[in-house]
Amino acid sequence: MLDLHTTDIIRKKRLGEALTDGEIDFVVSGAVDGSIPDYQLSALLMAICFQGMTARETAKLTLSMAASGETVDLSALGGVTVDKHSTGGVGDKTSLVIVPAAAACGVKIAKMSGRGLGHTGGTVDKLESIPGTRTDLSREEFLEVVRKTGCAVIGQSGDLCPADKKLYALRDVTATVESVPLIASSIMSKKIAAGSDCILLDVKTGGGAFMKTLPEAETLAREMVRIGKNVGRRTVALITDMDRPLGRAVGNALEIIEVCETLQGRGPADLTAECVELAANMVVLGGRASGVEAARETVRQALQNGAAFEKFCEMIAAQGGDVSYLREPGKFALGAVRKTVEAPIPGFVTRAAAEEIGLASVGLGAGRETVGEAIDFGAGILLHKNRGDYVEAGEPLATLFTSERKRLDAAEERVRTAFRIGPEKPAEQPLILARIE
Ligand code: URA
Repeated sequence: MLDLHTTDIIRKKRLGEALTDGEIDFVVSGAVDGSIPDYQLSALLMAICFQGMTARETAKLTLSMAASGETVDLSALGGVTVDKHSTGGVGDKTSLVIVPAAAACGVKIAKMSGRGLGHTGGTVDKLESIPGTRTDLSREEFLEVVRKTGCAVIGQSGDLCPADKKLYALRDVTATVESVPLIASSIMSKKIAAGSDCILLDVKTGGGAFMKTLPEAETLAREMVRIGKNVGRRTVALITDMDRPLGRAVGNALEIIEVCETLQGRGPADLTAECVELAANMVVLGGRASGVEAARETVRQALQNGAAFEKFCEMIAAQGGDVSYLREPGKFALGAVRKTVEAPIPGFVTRAAAEEIGLASVGLGAGRETVGEAIDFGAGILLHKNRGDYVEAGEPLATLFTSERKRLDAAEERVRTAFRIGPEKPAEQPLILARIE
């Protein structure tokens, strides 16, 4: 009887019809309690990939997944809470800059983050590269850190959105990740369950992002903003460039060192500019500035006067981390096996392909190639040049770090192919491509 019902739902979606609210609830509860087998869920996911979902169906799927497990109540914190989510990138360490920067401007942030996925890095892995830092705080400890310091960043608890956990794992292995209704409902269900009043979305686009083109990214951003609005969460999306890595560091400890520099006003120009824009939008959402221009100035000051860096140190200390690593980044043990990739010819860097560089970093040990694999926190890539820079023949393009000699050759080859050098300076590409509210 149940099987018959599930096949009816799959057939209906395969034929391009919209599912009812009851059918969506049935699928979500069947995914969580195991009554719908993986092969039927996978068939339905593929049908959704081909046929899409209406705005009503996407909103219903989001709410149903958000309600499939625990939800977090942040009301005890008082005031307005703001959350942030990135769709994933290479060298994308913005969360670890903007959370303390916005908190230093008075915004309350209780954020749950993820681990690396595919070629993209994850905030939780980066945090764990700071010795002692706990990302598995209990609900009470989590709220206590926010109460004490104004911000906390932890891993997503296992009880949050079990339906998304199930469907995401299936999508990962059935080539059904890249679907706007599935990505929108996956991200927004977790953000809604995580309880913040306002949500800032960083939707990445370009070769290193899941949404390769601007129109695709805009469609995804609009869908997520609409869902947020419908459930009474003020939601803003920025669409940002992910054709090339952000900043100079890719890999966990390397990125933490760059985070510390950026928090003290000494970060790379592209990373700093993007963080100022994202943090300013959080400050406005949190009601701490009248407009984005005023908020930008407040954030810039927090980066320049050390307030943002001190806030990061406070948060890390409250989560058990050894802050001496942040104050003396030379203490981080970076991979001892190193290799510098040099430019074969002089010219302008016309391409520094984010996806290839992300994959090379994973290959060096900075990410996982199999489920649950341990990470080499000191592995990664330091870019000396990025798109648009001029380089002489023989000048370093990138330095590779790893602990295992055998990982070097394949990563080196990937980095070489990621770079293209030509006689013409490429047109400047804006970092922030659109803002959707
Ligand atoms: N991040 C998510 O949490 N879900 C997706 O589907 C894609 C990126």
